[in-house]
Amino acid sequence: MLLTIPLKVISAHFFFSYTSCCSLWGNVQTTPDIPAIAKYFTTKGRYEEVNPYLIDDILAVNKSLVKPPSAECREIHLTAIIRHGSRYPTTKNVKKMRALHNLVVQKASGEERWLREITQWKMWYTDEMDGRLVQKGVLDHRHLAVRLSKLFPSLISKEKLQDGHIKFMTSSKHRCVNSTLSFQGGLAKLWDIEDEEIDYEVNDALMRFFDKCTRFVETVDKNQSAMAELDKFTSSAEMRRVQEKIADRLLVPYSHITSDMAEAAFYLCAYELAIKTINSPWCQLFDEADALVLEYANDLKQFWKRSYGHDINSKSSCILFHDVFSRLDRAANEIRSGSNVTEAATIQVGHADTLLPLLTLLGFFKDSVPLTSDNYVTQGQRAFRTSRMMPYAANLVLVLYDCSGNLRLQALLNERPLAFPGLADNQGEEGAPLYQDVRDHYGELLQGCDFEKECQLFPSK
Ligand SMILES: *[C@@H]1O[C@H](CO)[C@@H](O)[C@H](O)[C@H]1NC(C)=O
Ligand SMILES: *[C@@H]1O[C@H](CO)[C@@H](O)[C@H](O)[C@H]1NC(C)=O
Ligand SMILES: *[C@@H]1O[C@H](CO)[C@@H](O)[C@H](O)[C@H]1NC(C)=O
Ligand SMILES: *[C@@H]1O[C@H](CO)[C@@H](O)[C@H](O)[C@H]1NC(C)=O
Repeated sequence: MLLTIPLKVISAHFFFSYTSCCSLWGNVQTTPDIPAIAKYFTTKGRYEEVNPYLIDDILAVNKSLVKPPSAECREIHLTAIIRHGSRYPTTKNVKKMRALHNLVVQKASGEERWLREITQWKMWYTDEMDGRLVQKGVLDHRHLAVRLSKLFPSLISKEKLQDGHIKFMTSSKHRCVNSTLSFQGGLAKLWDIEDEEIDYEVNDALMRFFDKCTRFVETVDKNQSAMAELDKFTSSAEMRRVQEKIADRLLVPYSHITSDMAEAAFYLCAYELAIKTINSPWCQLFDEADALVLEYANDLKQFWKRSYGHDINSKSSCILFHDVFSRLDRAANEIRSGSNVTEAATIQVGHADTLLPLLTLLGFFKDSVPLTSDNYVTQGQRAFRTSRMMPYAANLVLVLYDCSGNLRLQALLNERPLAFPGLADNQGEEGAPLYQDVRDHYGELLQGCDFEKECQLFPSK
């Protein structure tokens, strides 16, 4: 297919709009004014909050953080599984925002400047936006492509692309297809081949396996009882306190602020930052303690819907798990037999709902105690924190190295090394264990983890 997206590098509007926010707030700054609560936006957070050095230079890579296991290692294959870039809210969330906005316009009073700004704020989100990729999301993927090619120059290179050694695959959702096109566009611009065709494959069996796993759909996705811990937390004292503090700030009766509205206000602050790079007056409705509670609420949701909460959540990704290992095996076998690697890089674009089950199946970010409605306080230092794991354009990159005949595997999440759980005593040189040890560690899954079998509503075993 042809690259039809316009390759204007940066839309001045999206990139520089933060300057207007700062004069609005009376404190002219040279750096963008980022809300203090921005690091708690869970799956609606910016990638820059996970890697703040990108705020100064969006194309910077940290080669002292991401490097080969040792000097003798040569990168031979990488598989990247990437979430789509920043997007508009879904229709469901737009409706919640509208309800909140209407209430504030009609009922809020008070003299503070930010409150006046909220009441003057224009509701510009519409139902038709329905989760589409925004311009910032185009840039997320364009820039990620350039950074990955800087980190792995022999795998993501112009020659490899033109010789057909880089494969692209995407979920059929418009935001994922457009993210894939943006990633390709970033490379095309970098290498000045903007008029060349780059292929991609739409594959929902692999990138939207969750929709096709009947047991997951019936026992978790469509089953309200599967979210019991989230429901309990939504009516907990912690959550109620957040709602009351919002009501106090708006000078409205406590009964007016529902948990949906608290959530809508939090995500309005998140979307205004992610989409427009502005610190919106909605952010003033929260302090850090409130943000931590709302962060926990969404972590609970992700935990029970996509992760360790129910076994089928991770098992639904068996099909992608096997796909990833079959690519690694193929590259390993090609190297062992002295031939060239056919697929230098595989770029797979999907959803948070694609990545979280796979990370879970692989055992990453597992706390010793599950997240529940009543252990918010003791989970303060939890590993399972989607603000860190799953911002827009979150990416899991698995890199296979040939180290003088020994194959090693390195895992990176969001351009940072990620230690394979359970292989702690055997991390090898610089955190990349032998590929064979990784295969042994996941041996049981490699032997089993059959998608068809796991996803039957009534398992036959
Ligand atoms: C790069 O990574 C190193 C090692 O972790 C760290 O010390 C350094 O601060 C990082 N550089 C930047 C710019 O973040
Ligand atoms: C995707 O890109 C195409 C081509 O630029 C554009 O027409 C379409 O509106 C975009 N869709 C989304 C969901 O962003
Ligand atoms: C719904 O979830 C609950 C809690 O996990 C479970 O006990 C129940 O069997 C599920 N219902 C269905 C229809 O799977
Ligand atoms: C491997 O690739 C190199 C460089 O592209 C080429 O010269 C060589 O002939 C290839 N070897 C095989 C076995 O295909």
